[in-house]
Amino acid sequence: VGSDRRRESVLVTGATGFVGSAVVRRLLAEGHEVTGLVRDPDRARGLARLGMRTLTGDMLDPASYEQAAQRSGAVVHCAQLAPGRRLTRRRAARMAAANMVTTRALARACLRGGGRLLYTSGSFVYGDHGDAWITERTPLTPSPLGEGHAAGVRHLRELAPRGLRFAVLTPGFVYGPGGNFKAAFHDQAAAGRLRCIGHGANYWSCVHVDDLAGAYAAALAGAPPGAEYNVVDDKPLTLRELVDRVAAGTGGGGRPGSVPPVLAGLVVGRPVVASLTTSYRVSGALIREELGWRPAYPTLAEGLPPTLAALARRGVPAAENATTAADS
Ligand SMILES: NC(=O)c1ccc[n+]([C@@H]2O[C@H](COP(=O)([O-])OP(=O)(O)OC[C@H]3O[C@@H](n4cnc5c(N)ncnc54)[C@H](OP(=O)(O)O)[C@@H]3O)[C@@H](O)[C@H]2O)c1
Repeated sequence: VGSDRRRESVLVTGATGFVGSAVVRRLLAEGHEVTGLVRDPDRARGLARLGMRTLTGDMLDPASYEQAAQRSGAVVHCAQLAPGRRLTRRRAARMAAANMVTTRALARACLRGGGRLLYTSGSFVYGDHGDAWITERTPLTPSPLGEGHAAGVRHLRELAPRGLRFAVLTPGFVYGPGGNFKAAFHDQAAAGRLRCIGHGANYWSCVHVDDLAGAYAAALAGAPPGAEYNVVDDKPLTLRELVDRVAAGTGGGGRPGSVPPVLAGLVVGRPVVASLTTSYRVSGALIREELGWRPAYPTLAEGLPPTLAALARRGVPAAENATTAADS
C-alpha cells in the first residue's frame, strides 16, 4: 500500500480509542498530517494539542466522514462500537454490522479518491488452531468475536480487482497502559478479581500498543496493495501465563484462580468466553520480512513492566471495574 516516506494526509477512525490514539500519536510524530474522526471533540483535546485535526462524526453516519476519506491519501480504520459490559451475540452482531457500514463507506471513498485503506482486523478472525502456528495464509474461520472483522476483510479482498488499495493489519491481543488491557486485566488484578477463564492452556499472541502503532507507520510507508500482516510479538504465551504475569506484576493478591467458562459466560457474555478460550498462536514473520518491522517489546515479559509502571503512575480509579475482555 505504501510508497515512500513522504508526508501523507491520513484520516484515522476511532482516533480517541486505545489503538487509534497510539496510531495518531505515531503518525503525527512521523510528520504526517492526521485528521481524527471523533464523536466528542472534548475527548480528543490531548491529540489536538499534538497537532491532530478533529472531524466530528459517527461511524454509523457515513455522510459525516466520506468526503474527508475521499480527500485523504490514506485512511486508517480503528473505530469500533463499544462492546458494553456483557457482550451478547446480539451485541456482537450489532458491532459487526456497524463495522461493515463503516468499512463499506471507507472503501467506497478510497475507490473514488484513490486513497489507501489500512484496516484493523484481529487474531480472532482465524478461530481456534490449538498448538498449530497461524499465518496470513490460514483461512478465516473466526471465533464469535472475529466474525465482524472476517466479514470486513473479505469485503476488502473482493474490492481488490476493482482497484481498492488496502492493507490489513491483524493484531493479536493489544496491551499497553490503557484500553481493554487496563479494564479487563490490570484493574481486575489490582482489585484481586482477575480470574483465568478455563484451564488457560490456550495460546494468546500479544503485541504492545506502541509496537502496533509502529506497524501502521511501516504499512503506510511500504505495504504493497492487498497486503495482510499479522502483528504480534515474538513469543505467544498461554492465557494462564498472561493472567499470572499480570497478577504478579500488579500485586493484587496471590495467583488468580480459574473460573469455569460457563460461569464466565454469564458475566461477560458467551461470545467473549468462546473467543477468549480459543488458541491463537500467531506467526508475525511476514511483516518482519516484507516491511522490516520489529517490536521494541519482543515479548510480554519485556513490555509488561513499563506498561504496569505507567498504569501505576496514573492510578486506578476505585469505581472502575469493567469486566469485558479482549475483542479481536
Ligand atoms: N484492543 C485489542 O486487544 C485489540 C486486539 C485486536 C484487534 N483490535 C481491534 O482494534 C480496533 C480498535 O480497538 P480498540 O481496542 O482501540 O477499541 P477502543 O479503545 O474501544 O476504541 C474504539 C474507538 O471507536 C470509537 N467509536 C465507538 N463508537 C463509535 C461511533 N459510533 N462512531 C465513531 N467512533 C466510534 C471510540 O470513540 P469514543 O472514544 O468516542 O468512545 C474509540 O475511539 C477494533 O477494531 C478492535 O477489534 C483490538
